[in-house]
Amino acid sequence: MSNKGKVLVTGGTGFIGQHTVAELIESGYEVIILDNLANSKKSVLDQIEKVTGVKPSFYQIDLVNKTDVLNFFDQIGHLEGVIHFAALKAVGESVQQPLMYYQNNLIGLLNLLEGMRNSNNQKLVFSSSCTVYGQPEVLPVTEKSPKIRPESPYGNTKSISEEIIEDVSKVTDLTSINLRYFNPIGAHPTALLGEEPIGNPNNVMPVITQTAIGKRDSMTVFGNDYSTPDGTCIRDYIHVVDLAKAHVIALERILSNKCTSKTEYFNLGTGNGFSVLQLINAFESNTGVKLNYKIGPRREGDVVSIYADTSLANEVLGWTAQLGIDEMVLSAWKWELYLKGINP
Ligand code: UD1
Repeated sequence: MSNKGKVLVTGGTGFIGQHTVAELIESGYEVIILDNLANSKKSVLDQIEKVTGVKPSFYQIDLVNKTDVLNFFDQIGHLEGVIHFAALKAVGESVQQPLMYYQNNLIGLLNLLEGMRNSNNQKLVFSSSCTVYGQPEVLPVTEKSPKIRPESPYGNTKSISEEIIEDVSKVTDLTSINLRYFNPIGAHPTALLGEEPIGNPNNVMPVITQTAIGKRDSMTVFGNDYSTPDGTCIRDYIHVVDLAKAHVIALERILSNKCTSKTEYFNLGTGNGFSVLQLINAFESNTGVKLNYKIGPRREGDVVSIYADTSLANEVLGWTAQLGIDEMVLSAWKWELYLKGINP
């Protein structure tokens, strides 16, 4: 395999991080993972090795610990680029514990940017979110859609992080691409990588697969009285492997000096909205497993409907999501079976 140089991936053992690490290795990069293992396991490194044949190097470092971060950058030398995933991401928890979220996600970013500046490693791909658009008035959302203050502290950390990156870019050599994800679900086609939330998952896909496998008795659909065709919320679900590939493309855009601005933004979705009930139906019809769900009250802070206009990513990055809802739900299910020791 060719060696295109070293890439640092923070949060590289997490759900999106691990898939991106696999894509980077397959593309010929040498990956260094930095993670505090707050919501992931070190055994992910073995799984990545099973998929790619290469075990990435790993540093268990908490980005909030400035001394550790600066020491790391003092000794790491030249990096082709940095992809920054490490962050807390549970929306509800962030409402309950805003200080923890602001401290973790913002101080972590500040320390990372300082380490990058000190070591003259100034190329960054940042993991942002469609949450920066709040509940948009016009759908689909483009990158020019207004940013609205997100409902949750989690969402606000993503919005503020984009602004910090932009401010730093103006006065340093920092060049960044900020990728605004819609709703990443699914798992690696090998069923060796996937989402494994520690504790109770909040996101809908692991809730579905855990209910189907019997880890939970039932699941609740949060509200069916929204102003949507079937009354449930609409999201733009995107396969995590498609999302991971977009990170490699974004990195290579920075490396080949193609960026037209020091800070660029791209929506990453499929452009298709699916309701919660449509997602459940897709799961049931693809897997043949009947899901025990009930309709419950709305969840506080949920936006009614959001999906992406992906033309900018299509045209400028040359990236389009390849995998549809069937592949998303089937791969998520195969991963859940794999976790239970069943050969999917
Ligand atoms: C939100 C953010 C997203 C962020 C993610 C991080 C928005 C629009 N999206 O995703 O940017 O990256 O959190 O975690 O703010 N649902 C149920 N029952 C469940 C769980 C979920 O019905 O048990 C429904 C929700 O009400 C929602 C949909 O499923 O309509 C998706 O929910 P979830 O997977 O939690 O993602 P978002 O909240 O959309």
